[in-house]
Amino acid sequence: MNEAWKELKQECAQCRRCGLGETRHHLVFGDGAEDARIMLIGEGPGEQEDLQGLPFVGPAGKLLDDMLEMIYLDRTKVYIANIVKCRPPQNRDPLPAESEACMPWLREQFRLLKPKIVVCLGRVAAQRMIRADFSVVREHGEFYNKNGILFMATYHPAALLRQPRSKPDAFADFLALREKIQEVCEHTY
Ligand code: URA
Repeated sequence: MNEAWKELKQECAQCRRCGLGETRHHLVFGDGAEDARIMLIGEGPGEQEDLQGLPFVGPAGKLLDDMLEMIYLDRTKVYIANIVKCRPPQNRDPLPAESEACMPWLREQFRLLKPKIVVCLGRVAAQRMIRADFSVVREHGEFYNKNGILFMATYHPAALLRQPRSKPDAFADFLALREKIQEVCEHTY
């Protein structure tokens, strides 16, 4: 990990801007390539993530890995982070105040990474990153250019585990992501 990333992670580990830092086991800062052009953003750590300190390492993470593999990607070639870096108790949605309090860390991650494409996994990330009234059901797979960065949202993998009928739509979104990567990323992924 380079110095700037190391410092940011250390600062983040001290954060007590909301109550989630008191109940978590581990900070789940983010994981992947520090020079990735593609960033994936989830909602917040679940049980396994909280125990291991890494994003998307539970059952939803296994499905995410499979979807990445389907488009010839893996987590070493992208960067994966969450809206909140500490696990909300019982996997509840992060409260708006918790997401708000955690956003400066994500902004710093953006500043260091400079992604070209950002994929929001599920409603919480999409509504925070794209638009407050974003509907994943109606608008998944569409790309939105915000200040030169392309944002897209798709179903959260945990939602796909609960509702497998949405999987074909999510797979189509990942195929659209693969095409977009080829269009806008200078080095081959
Ligand atoms: N769900 C998320 O949104 N993020 C994780 O890291 C794991 C599960």
